[in-house]
Amino acid sequence: MAARAPRPGALAASFLLLFLAAAAAPWWHRGLAAAGLVRVDGTQFVVGGKTVYFSGFNAYWLMLVASDPARRGQVVAAFRQAAGHGLNLARTWAFSDGGDAPLQAAPGVYDEAMFQGLDFVIAEARRHGIYLLLCLTNNFHDFGGKRQYVAWAREAGHHLATADDFFNSTVVKGYYKNHVKTVLTRVNTVTGVAYRDDPTILGWELMNEPRCDADPTGAMVQAWVEEMAPYVKSVDGDHLVTAGLEGFYGDGAHESKDLNPWGIYYGTNFVDTHRAAGVDFATIHLYPDLWLWGSGAAAQLAFFRNWTRSHARDAELYLAKPLLVTEYGKFLWDGVANRTQRDRFLGLVLDSIYASAAAGGPLVGGAFWQLLDPGMDTLRDGYEIILPEDQRAATIIGNHSRQLAELNGQDVEAVRRRSRRRWGAHRKVHVLGSSSSSSSGSRSSSDTPRLHMPLIPGSLSPKSKLSGCCLLLERSAFKGSGNRRPQDEQSNPPGIRSGVVPAIRLFQWLNYSSTFKDRVGRAR
Ligand SMILES: *[C@@H]1O[C@H](CO)[C@@H](O)[C@H](O)[C@H]1NC(C)=O
Ligand SMILES: *[C@@H]1O[C@H](CO)[C@@H](O)[C@H](O)[C@H]1NC(C)=O
Ligand SMILES: *[C@@H]1O[C@H](CO)[C@@H](O)[C@H](O)[C@H]1NC(C)=O
Ligand SMILES: *[C@@H]1O[C@H](CO)[C@@H](O)[C@H](O)[C@H]1NC(C)=O
Ligand SMILES: *[C@@H]1O[C@H](CO)[C@@H](O)[C@H](O)[C@H]1NC(C)=O
Repeated sequence: MAARAPRPGALAASFLLLFLAAAAAPWWHRGLAAAGLVRVDGTQFVVGGKTVYFSGFNAYWLMLVASDPARRGQVVAAFRQAAGHGLNLARTWAFSDGGDAPLQAAPGVYDEAMFQGLDFVIAEARRHGIYLLLCLTNNFHDFGGKRQYVAWAREAGHHLATADDFFNSTVVKGYYKNHVKTVLTRVNTVTGVAYRDDPTILGWELMNEPRCDADPTGAMVQAWVEEMAPYVKSVDGDHLVTAGLEGFYGDGAHESKDLNPWGIYYGTNFVDTHRAAGVDFATIHLYPDLWLWGSGAAAQLAFFRNWTRSHARDAELYLAKPLLVTEYGKFLWDGVANRTQRDRFLGLVLDSIYASAAAGGPLVGGAFWQLLDPGMDTLRDGYEIILPEDQRAATIIGNHSRQLAELNGQDVEAVRRRSRRRWGAHRKVHVLGSSSSSSSGSRSSSDTPRLHMPLIPGSLSPKSKLSGCCLLLERSAFKGSGNRRPQDEQSNPPGIRSGVVPAIRLFQWLNYSSTFKDRVGRAR
């Protein structure tokens, strides 16, 4: 079948068949059951001492949907499609704080039906040979998050000023630790395996996209991670832990705020926070279109390259830990981007992951935002990839999975030797501390590229400009149109679908960036 020159459609179908055949007993499936937990060895993930690379997807909705036994078929279908395209990692929410579909209804009060939904998700992931990266709360309001935790503390009579008190209030930290302990010690009602013993789980993510207005330079989030990562390890010493960062640079050593979108702070350190004890690997997210809304394709491409390169370099030189792009996506919006452009972006991200992985580099996997099943229309957010309905994207993803899977099972020492050849020169430059040459691996403030303007060219409609300014700060609110409970969405249709965004967000954004700059200026 593949010998004749196939049409692209036939090619896709043949890849699909390949995976369906392979899915009967993929090696990592056996690995999941027998080889034990995923560990980290230098910049590589290993299972049973051999390398493993991650071709992944996000599906925040799995637990929520599985909590309704009548809808569990959708979870099974998602895993079946994912496994059929060689995907071996799902990133999903192991939280739903308060609200009307809670996992944790109030501090320490858990909804058993929701927990059984999560049990089911873990059991199905295991059955399909797919690892899980489980996230423990949200920076943003969707599914509760830090605002809900602070609200609980206030209801208990504590006086907390803002949602960012989440990061330093003793009471709130106690609530959070209790959630961590409850989830990690949960015994799965389907498999009988405690979560903390389950090799299906790649690791724990402390929070989805921590950010902090209260402390722009990143010290507050860092202190929180330095307390919480070891806490997770004290409950579950074996699984991997990561913070959940998007990659924004702060004020720590080796940080370079000028590389951030808009050149401002977001309240996190990339390097120092990932160096914290208990943090096993680093993450970045990647949304060049939203982060640099209004900029042209060339500027977004340049940002993409700098963002992935600088973080891969940091992971290699300063962290010596693996790096995953745990979210990336391109928003499909009439007049802004079409599928051809989206597919090009997919290809770019996946090729850069493969290039790094093949060369022994630290960027060893990713997870696209987001996978949906056919018919889940209320969860569409402009980023959805529905594999059975999107043959081109399915082929790109399936092809990438196959390529990455060929790298699995290597000896780590061999990978290290390849990596040394690649990074040796950079490391030398870094040690010499050269700052005069623009091609050097080091970044001083004088040679750091600026990502500033022009971010809002005249070609966009005023409506688009307005929304674009707010997107960076409020990205969750936009992406979040698919990141919230379905019932919220029905009562409150997301503005992004029509492109209408309240003007107040623009002012909030401008206010936000200027007060950030003021405060940081004063602090120096
Ligand atoms: C937490 O940080 C905020 C903002 O910096 C501060 O106002 C508050 O006093 C801190 N709380 C504690 C308990 O340290
Ligand atoms: C990316 O980095 C290069 C130098 O490494 C710089 O010339 C360029 O301006 C940067 N581009 C962006 C968008 O930051
Ligand atoms: C997608 O958009 C690009 C840039 O605007 C355009 O060149 C291309 O023809 C479009 N493709 C489709 C299939 O609409
Ligand atoms: C699939 O990967 C191969 C390299 O292994 C490449 O040559 C080919 O162009 C890719 N096809 C698609 C559709 O991405
Ligand atoms: C701007 O920031 C200040 C201080 O944080 C706040 O009091 C004010 O309400 C903000 N204005 C807007 C329009 O968001």
